[in-house]
Amino acid sequence: MRIGIIGAGNIGGNAARRLAGAGHEVLVSFSRDEANLRRLAADLGPRASHGTPADAVRFGEVVILAVPWSTLPAVLEQAGDLSGRVVIDTTNQFGDGPKPAAGQTAAAFNAARMPGASYTKSLNTLTAGFQELAAEREGDDRVVQWICGDDDGAKRIVATLIADAGYVPVDLGPVATCAVMEAPRRPGSVYGEEYRAADAAGVVSAVREGRPIPPTPRYD
Ligand SMILES: NC(=O)c1ccc[n+]([C@@H]2O[C@H](COP(=O)([O-])OP(=O)(O)OC[C@H]3O[C@@H](n4cnc5c(N)ncnc54)[C@H](OP(=O)(O)O)[C@@H]3O)[C@@H](O)[C@H]2O)c1
Repeated sequence: MRIGIIGAGNIGGNAARRLAGAGHEVLVSFSRDEANLRRLAADLGPRASHGTPADAVRFGEVVILAVPWSTLPAVLEQAGDLSGRVVIDTTNQFGDGPKPAAGQTAAAFNAARMPGASYTKSLNTLTAGFQELAAEREGDDRVVQWICGDDDGAKRIVATLIADAGYVPVDLGPVATCAVMEAPRRPGSVYGEEYRAADAAGVVSAVREGRPIPPTPRYD
């Protein structure tokens, strides 16, 4: 697939590397220094290029948003119309900038800022360093990357990309009920916690039924 990446730092850079390595075409964008993007694209090889956020949207069937929360208003303005794009939002609501209302998830808040997009949220619960290392795992040791969104077709596309990147994709349901995958790290949430496939189903059914999730699993 063609994937436009907006913000190619820790999270976006890892996604770019994993997805280009899996044979996808990536365009990286949004930097205070274009040389950073040029260098990254050169490192990633012939399946990678760089450009502006608007270029990423034009290029990408899928657009990954991996920028600091505070930059989102500027990023969305530069990106332009996201209609028809599958968006993977990796952001967490730290720092300045408009915030969700009380009781509203950050995913629901951001989805409303991207009219026309097939919005999903993923790749946001694990530290970038852990994501980079864990992507190399195989079999039952692979880690879960949760996905939420209101468009089942978009979530299926995102699940394929997440599997290609080296993780286990798990659909946690719509944006309105995904609070357990959002910051901050706290008891009763999956945010900041490692999960493997065997422990994911219990979380999904608890969230679907509005129950507390099972205790956080511990792995040796
Ligand atoms: N890091 C984690 O462990 C982690 C884990 C899960 C989710 N997240 C979320 O993922 C998102 C991205 O985090 P990250 O750690 O990948 O961030 P990061 O490493 O700081 O990357 C941010 C990217 O945005 C670019 N950028 C352009 N203008 C910027 C500006 N004015 N200020 C700051 N950056 C600017 C940076 O490019 P230049 O530096 O080249 O300018 C860089 O490519 C955040 O919303 C974060 O909450 C992070």
